[in-house]
Parts: sequence; C-alpha cells; structure tokens
Amino acid sequence: MQNKTFYIKTMGCQMNEYDSDFLTQSLISSGFSRVDNLKYADIILINTCTVRAKPEQKAYSLLGRMSELKQENSGLIIGVIGCLAQQKGHELMKRFPQLDFVMGPRELGRIKEILRRIDTNGEKFVATHLEPAPPQPVICQGYFDGKVTGYLSIMEGCNNFCSYCIVPYVRGREISRSPEEIMIEAKNLISEGIKEITLLGQNVNSYRWEGVEKWNFVSLLREITKLDGLLRLRFTTSHPKDLSEQLIHCFGDLDKLCPHIHLPFQAGANLVLKRMKRGYTREKYIDLIDKLRTVRPDIGITSDVMVGFPGESEQDFDMTLNLIKRVQFDSLFSFKYSDRKGTLAAKMGDKVDEADKSSRLSALQNLQKQISLKKNRALEGKRLEVLVEGYSKRGGQISGRTGSNKVVNFIGDNSYITNLVTVTIKHGFLNSLHGELFFENNSLTG
Ligand code: SAH
Ligand code: SF4
Ligand code: F3S
Repeated sequence: MQNKTFYIKTMGCQMNEYDSDFLTQSLISSGFSRVDNLKYADIILINTCTVRAKPEQKAYSLLGRMSELKQENSGLIIGVIGCLAQQKGHELMKRFPQLDFVMGPRELGRIKEILRRIDTNGEKFVATHLEPAPPQPVICQGYFDGKVTGYLSIMEGCNNFCSYCIVPYVRGREISRSPEEIMIEAKNLISEGIKEITLLGQNVNSYRWEGVEKWNFVSLLREITKLDGLLRLRFTTSHPKDLSEQLIHCFGDLDKLCPHIHLPFQAGANLVLKRMKRGYTREKYIDLIDKLRTVRPDIGITSDVMVGFPGESEQDFDMTLNLIKRVQFDSLFSFKYSDRKGTLAAKMGDKVDEADKSSRLSALQNLQKQISLKKNRALEGKRLEVLVEGYSKRGGQISGRTGSNKVVNFIGDNSYITNLVTVTIKHGFLNSLHGELFFENNSLTG
C-alpha cells in the first residue's frame, strides 16, 4: 500500500478541512504521497457535506464523475468520507457501485486499516459508527510550510438539534477534547510556523472539560493565548445561547484574541426562532451584539441566516431584514432553507415556495451588500493591524486579514509574509480592502 498516491477533495465547512488535513497527514506519515492532479492518483478521497440540498447535489455529481474514472482504471480506489457518507452509508454504495468505501467523520482513524484491507482482499467498507471519539491528530513535520493560519478542533458534534439541522445526526453527540491534547496540538502548530489558530467546533463556546480540573471555553482561551509564538487566536462557530458575559469580556481582556465573532442568528422573527429551536429571541440576540460592541467597538460581526423556513411569512421575513439593518453585520452567509430528511423541520407543513425563497434571498443579499460596502468604506483612512498570509489572489500584491477578519491587499514584498504589519486603508470594496503599508514590525516604513 505504501508509495501509493492519493488525491483528496474537500467540500463543506472548516470541520471538513480540518478532517482532510488530519487524513492527509496521517497518510503521508505512513508513506503515501499526495497529488494535486486526479490523473496521477491511486486513491481518490471525497470529503462531503450534507448540510443543505446544494452541497449534497454537488457531492453526487462529483461522485458520478469519479465513478467514470474507475471504469477507465479498475485499480483505482475511491472513498467517500464526511457528513454525506455518514448520512447515506450503504445507500451511497448502491447508488455508486464503483465506490470502495464510505466512511463517517468519527471513523477516520481507521483509514490506513481500511485501505490495507481493500488492497489485500478487495473488500468494500461502510464505516459509519458515531460512538468513537474523534481520532487523534497526527502532525506531519513540514505539512504547514508556507501557511500562516491553522485550524484546531476542540470539540466535535452537536447536542442542540436545531429543527432544520442535520449536523447532530451526522457528527454525533457533542464531545470535547481534553485541554492537554488541545495544548499539545496548539504548541505543535506553532512550532510548525502557524501564527494564527482558529479553534473549531460546531458549537465551540459550549466547550467544557470535567477532568481533575474543570475547564470551560473561557479558561481554554486564556491558556492558549499565553502560548509564546502565537500571534492571534480566533474561534468558530459560536451559538448565541452559550455566549456568556465572561466570553464577551475576553474580547476586551485577551490581546491575542481577534476582534471578530461569527454568531449565526438564522432568523429575525421570534416565532420562527422558536420553531427552529434556537433557544434565544431576537431581543436577546441584539442585546448580545450591543454588549460585544460595548466591550470591543471595532469587533467584526458576521453571521448565518436562512430564508424560507417552513411557515416563514412575509412579515417574518421583514423581521429578518429589520434585524440585519439594526445589527449592521460586516458580512453574512445566507441560504435558502432546504429539507434535511430526518429533521423535525422536514416534517413541518406550510413549506415556502422556491420562488418566494429565491426572491427573499436576493432581497436580503442586496441589503447586506449595501451594508458590507458601507462598513468597508468607513474604514478608509484607518490604520489596522494585518497578519500577512501570502500573495493576493490578483497577484502583484500581498494579502492578509485584519483582526476583524477582513481581507486587505497591499503592495509589499514577500518578506512581510507571516508578520503583523500596520496598514493604512485606502479603499473599501464589497469583499476586501485595499491598503498601503504603514508599519512593519513596529518600525516606520512610510
Ligand atoms: N454550527 C453552526 C452552523 C452549522 S451549519 C451553528 O450552530 O450555527 C452552517 C449553516 O448552514 C447554519 O448556520 C445555517 O444557516 C445553515 N443551514 C443548516 N441547515 C440548513 C438547512 N436545512 N437549510 C438551509 N440552511 C441550513
Ligand atoms: Fe446545527 Fe444548531 Fe448544532 Fe449549529 S447548533 S450544528 S445549526 S443543530
Ligand atoms: Fe457540512 Fe458536515 Fe460541516 S454537514 S457544514 S461538512 S459539519
């Protein structure tokens, strides 16, 4: 099996990216090598998402194309991993007989064993147990070369069962990792050159550990920010119902904690929030935002929202628009509600028409575009600290992000990459800022 090449395609959220990094490092450390071109792969791994209908459809079309490749090369091994794999299990095998294995997120630790068995006996596998704890990460020296930012998963799964959401069914019950493991992984990432860590969890702020010592999310943040060599700490995704006063105060107290929070609100009408089983009201959500801005006026606030939840009326939708106007988010991820089989909302009546969902979504996105642009323009003339991550997408410039998580492109040479620099913002665009270098490592350059 060793010396075989693998190609990995990741769809879905940061959790899946983290899992793909885990798999990649675990395979490389056992002698496999990664290729970026499908043509040269002995093994193809597709890490899937099923949170909405769209990513599910995208995964099916990719699996269809991969299956065709196997008709040309029967020695190819194809595995589907991730949340769609967990949800569909054997069904995927039936629909795509070319697949060799289907593996859920909690079984990823078995990858080498399963590949070996496929190679020696030609067996097929469906590994979708949800009981195991998430696998222990492997750090492969040099894997993060050239990277400045990295993810660290501190908890897996979710116990909230929001009525529309498939995640608790495909990621299992909430389980936190021990503070010892987390600190070791954070130190490893830093020694591999990572300067900014983003802590990950579906419900990251409900982290708790009840060992000899009791830990919660705030104590974990305090401990991680003490690590030498770490310049910045972020976390995602937070749930409004678990956003404590102590956590809000961390944005004022902890220098390395970036002034940014991703705090999904999902809907602006209380009756809809109730049917979604979110556990807060719009008033409570607005109060949290006001508190965050009191502690940290420059905090970047981003969120998730959906339109067309079953029973959402035009008035309910107006309440969503109204909340967006009141809060003034820096940016928003917005989605059309889609039924997820097995969830409570899928069984609810009073479904909203596709056409209504589409028109609500575009009205919402138009409103948010105006707000995002206005907020980015308001930064013109300000000096902001930027962690330089690499070259900008357009080329000719370097690029990084502000603490509030906005992309800034500016002219500078590659020696600034991995450093914190101060940039004067010259132009605010819809999705990024353009700036001019002001300070580099606290020495005046302009
Ligand atoms: N754990 C995070 C987000 C998980 S999924 C949280 O608690 O908020 C990412 C986003 O997908 C959600 O915030 C929600 O806006 C959206 N989403 C989840 N299920 C959906 C569904 N059935 N239809 C449409 N959007 C959905
Ligand atoms: Fe899904 Fe709700 Fe859990 Fe987020 S908190 S993962 S939306 S069930
Ligand atoms: Fe998708 Fe699974 Fe993430 S369903 S959003 S990849 S947790």
